Amino acid sequence: MSDSSIAFIGGGNMAHSLVGGMIASGRKPTSIWVADPFVDQLDNHRHRHGVNVTQENTEAAANADVIVLAVKPQILRDAAAQIASIVQERKPLMLSIAAGLREPDISRWLGGDVPVVRAMPNTPALIRCGATVLYANPSVTGQQKALAEEIMGAVGLCLWVDEEEHMDAVTATSGSGPAYFFHMMECMQAAAEDLGLPADVARQLVLQTALGAARMASEGEDEPGTLREKVTSPGGTTAAALEVLGQEDLAGVIKKALTAARDRSRTLSDEFGKD
Ligand SMILES: NC(=O)c1ccc[n+]([C@@H]2O[C@H](COP(=O)([O-])OP(=O)(O)OC[C@H]3O[C@@H](n4cnc5c(N)ncnc54)[C@H](OP(=O)(O)O)[C@@H]3O)[C@@H](O)[C@H]2O)c1
Repeated sequence: MSDSSIAFIGGGNMAHSLVGGMIASGRKPTSIWVADPFVDQLDNHRHRHGVNVTQENTEAAANADVIVLAVKPQILRDAAAQIASIVQERKPLMLSIAAGLREPDISRWLGGDVPVVRAMPNTPALIRCGATVLYANPSVTGQQKALAEEIMGAVGLCLWVDEEEHMDAVTATSGSGPAYFFHMMECMQAAAEDLGLPADVARQLVLQTALGAARMASEGEDEPGTLREKVTSPGGTTAAALEVLGQEDLAGVIKKALTAARDRSRTLSDEFGKD
């Protein structure tokens, strides 16, 4: 655990989760500052985590080694403008978790030539079971990369990509991904009820089955395809269901869905980054 100082601009859900995760991993609360316009939000941070709090973004940013931009994407540009002169003076690492905002736009809003890491986390980060992908611009040092990993690794899996272009596919896969699995659960639950199961039984069975399948796939050696084959006896019940999914081209539908999400991510990033 490094002893560098971390400032959060925006103290909402993600900031709570990241701060909580880092403190649970051994980081000193006094090394963390949280800035937010909302006094209740700051009180919550002080009571829950014992960190330093302020309503002034500039006060939090003043001595930070890394500044985490944890505001909504629509607000980031204004928040960046408030701290740009401090950032230009000190060149701390800027870690943006704002969905859809590209590194060149963030750098430009901060006055240019700044070390920026762009992170794309997903919602399960809120329960420290997230999947985050990171992209660093060329100004980011190895030590700063380790710091970015320490912060995002506090809420789950952390991977790097070398090309920012991949972030749109990441958004389509892990960013929007939890919703696909939630929808699958909804569909299975509704189908199980149609087959006559009581709603609470259907719900519990679907959730436990999703959890069990995810744990088998992530904790064991076998690929998902191998696991599927192992539970599919020829002529059996699973084979009957999978045959229908194949006839209806589930794989093609999923590919179309991810492609639509990737394309929408590109469009939104273009819109967010407009001057
Ligand atoms: N939640 C997720 O699962 C998730 C997943 C992927 C990416 N992200 C990204 O993470 C970022 C934060 O998301 P979140 O869910 O934590 O949002 P959030 O709960 O709305 O938190 C943002 C916080 O920033 C505060 N704020 C507003 N304007 C500010 C300003 N000028 N300076 C400082 N703070 C300001 C907000 O206060 P008010 O409430 O008073 O406006 C709010 O407390 C977003 O950019 C989002 O795209 C989130």
